[in-house]
Amino acid sequence: MVEAVLLVGGKGTRLRPLTVNTPKPMLPTAGVPFLHHVLAKAAAAGVDHVVLATSYRPEVFRNGLGDGSLTVGGHRLRIDLVTEDEPLGTAGGIRNVASLLEGGPDEPVVILNGDVLSGHDLAAQIAAHVSAGADATLHLTEVEDPRAFGCVPTDSDGRVTAFLEKTPDPVTNRINAGCYVFRRSVVDAIPAGRPVSVERETFPGLVAAGALVIGHVDPAYWLDLGTPAAYVQGSRDLVRGLAASPALPGPVGESLVLPGAQVAADAVLRGGTTVGSGARVGAGATVEGSVLLDGAEVGAGAVVRASVVGVRARVGAGCHLDGVVVGDGADLGAGNELAAGARVWCDVTIPAYAIRFSPDQPSS
Ligand code: GTP
Repeated sequence: MVEAVLLVGGKGTRLRPLTVNTPKPMLPTAGVPFLHHVLAKAAAAGVDHVVLATSYRPEVFRNGLGDGSLTVGGHRLRIDLVTEDEPLGTAGGIRNVASLLEGGPDEPVVILNGDVLSGHDLAAQIAAHVSAGADATLHLTEVEDPRAFGCVPTDSDGRVTAFLEKTPDPVTNRINAGCYVFRRSVVDAIPAGRPVSVERETFPGLVAAGALVIGHVDPAYWLDLGTPAAYVQGSRDLVRGLAASPALPGPVGESLVLPGAQVAADAVLRGGTTVGSGARVGAGATVEGSVLLDGAEVGAGAVVRASVVGVRARVGAGCHLDGVVVGDGADLGAGNELAAGARVWCDVTIPAYAIRFSPDQPSS
């Protein structure tokens, strides 16, 4: 049996207001909650039992879990859920679910972050961990600018020599990609009942104690969906098939239109756009590389690029949006222009022609 812990307790502050009502791992991404992509990946790698470590808005996970199982390609994944009384951080969250793990002290436990879209071969990572007899095996990926990540140098045998969290002077472009395999006894050794960071405390502690910590380099598709721009990119890469997922609810293509959506015959959808259930796109509108959540509305002639329109939010006719987040239930009047990371909060109303980037006169 292979078990996994899925860390899904973060508040997702960088994604607000999208995460005001929905925790980051439950945000619809290419038509299904992001978590489904991670669970499907785990199931495809042979994981049989997953424990979700929740903290922020646990009820959203509980309501979305159905009967507590997911079957992918005939493989059934059993799902349990644990909620922290207080946020315990990444390692504290792992330790807090230890009593639900069923394997023996030397069995592997896979740890997955609930916000990482990764094409790496998880089964190969588990196999590498087992054959090395490692205490912990980390997926490492390579990025151009490692300064915002945890930098992980290794020796010539692949053994991790240090953890350099968000350093201005990285010694390698190999970073911690947020997927680990732990020996079960390593989980049990994390201090219980207080916040602990896996990156800042557990990993450096293991290396200092001489534990066998292995870096498993796999340069496949990898994206941390922590920011609005990354969330939109992850969604469009899934829709277009640049990132593969067994959970994609349709064929890959330029757009994914969910059942119950209404798209005008002359509207243009491209660049991996998702149109959620009950969403509407008006005549002559263009929606490119964007996410329209359930019940969202884009008015006639509007242009929406690289943006997210929240649940039941409305974008008025003729609006131009580029790199924008519109929170759930917000109402943008006609003819507004928003760009460059603007965030419209949930349930806010913006009058017609209130915000413009261009100096032209409103046409009405
Ligand atoms: P930001 O607030 O935008 O930084 O996002 P976040 O809260 O998700 O934090 P971060 O991206 O650093 O978290 C990495 C992973 O750990 C995500 O899958 C989070 O859901 C998870 N996580 C972070 N803090 C906790 C916690 O206290 N408890 C649990 N169970 N999971 C956590």
